[in-house]
Amino acid sequence: MDIVNRFLEEKNLSKEEYVQLLEKADDAMAREQLREEALRLRRKYYGDKIYIRGLIEFTNYCKNNCYYCGIRRGNANVRRYRLNKEDILKCCAEGYRLGFRTFVLQGGEDPYYTDERMVEIIKDIRQTYPDCAITLSIGERSRESYRKFRAAGTDRYLLRHETANEEHYRSLHPSEMSLANRKQCLYDLKELGYQVGAGFMVGSPGQTLEHLAEDLLFLKELQPEMVGIGPFIPHHDTRYADEKAGSVELTLFLLSVSRILLPKVLLPATTALGTMDAFGREKGLQAGANVIMPNLSPEQNRKDYSLYDNKICTGEEAAQCIVCLKRRVESVGCMISEERGDAV
Ligand code: 5AD
Ligand code: FES
Repeated sequence: MDIVNRFLEEKNLSKEEYVQLLEKADDAMAREQLREEALRLRRKYYGDKIYIRGLIEFTNYCKNNCYYCGIRRGNANVRRYRLNKEDILKCCAEGYRLGFRTFVLQGGEDPYYTDERMVEIIKDIRQTYPDCAITLSIGERSRESYRKFRAAGTDRYLLRHETANEEHYRSLHPSEMSLANRKQCLYDLKELGYQVGAGFMVGSPGQTLEHLAEDLLFLKELQPEMVGIGPFIPHHDTRYADEKAGSVELTLFLLSVSRILLPKVLLPATTALGTMDAFGREKGLQAGANVIMPNLSPEQNRKDYSLYDNKICTGEEAAQCIVCLKRRVESVGCMISEERGDAV
């Protein structure tokens, strides 16, 4: 039996078999076969609903120095900013008015936001918007911090594992960071009752199909509720400035494979995918994605949260993006949902 059919029937492939499957990303027939199955599964569990998440990039300070990332601490050319609680609540108010029922607080790993400060922000949002989901995406913290954030009313946590291969992880990060700690964080978050999002970049420097096969095996093991997958895009102020970006085709292929592997997963058509291709997000939805994460950050800060070059929607207001996205989502036969959109 050919590898695509084996995957569709058994799901449990070995690492070597996943590599074989990924080699099919160049094969238009294989791509289409997986895409159709992914779409069928997305429709089965979520219909044509696309969930929106309001992304609030509330700090671009970061104590980490991931080599690929534009806002890593070693980049002295970044104009740094922090939003205070009032700023953040204003973003939520605008988002709520526009129909968002999930707020994602994303930031660099910024020590200014102590547990106490975070808890205060979370509690305020929780109190003001009891009908909304709160998602945090602020990197690696202690289990005790995660416990406090959860108790304060956080529902979900996004922490991409970036790559599930030890050696590759070490090549992309300074030695004070480790894949083991990253994984520990994800397991802690799960245990604490968060809906958890893992994920990885496609085409990051040095990545091989073996590495991606390991990412898929890790997803299968972790069973996250959400998975963020986007192409790597070089940032001019990093050592990878001249590397080539990840492939849109391979990203779409991995979205389909992830949908099939974890049929109920919440899968965003990422901004990075939309940056690499004018119709990247539409193609993502058609490959099995069911989430879009528009920006609710204040306009004056948008351009300063640049993880990679040429990021889209940094000049548009959230309201403009919503109009644009509604049209885009409808162009592929879907509709934007104003529900919280929890994992089924
Ligand atoms: N290209 C694409 N994605 C990136 N990220 C960070 N830097 C880049 C880049 N240069 C992703 C990482 C991180 C998420 C917030 O953004 O996967 O987890
Ligand atoms: Fe932002 Fe289209 S989604 S302008």
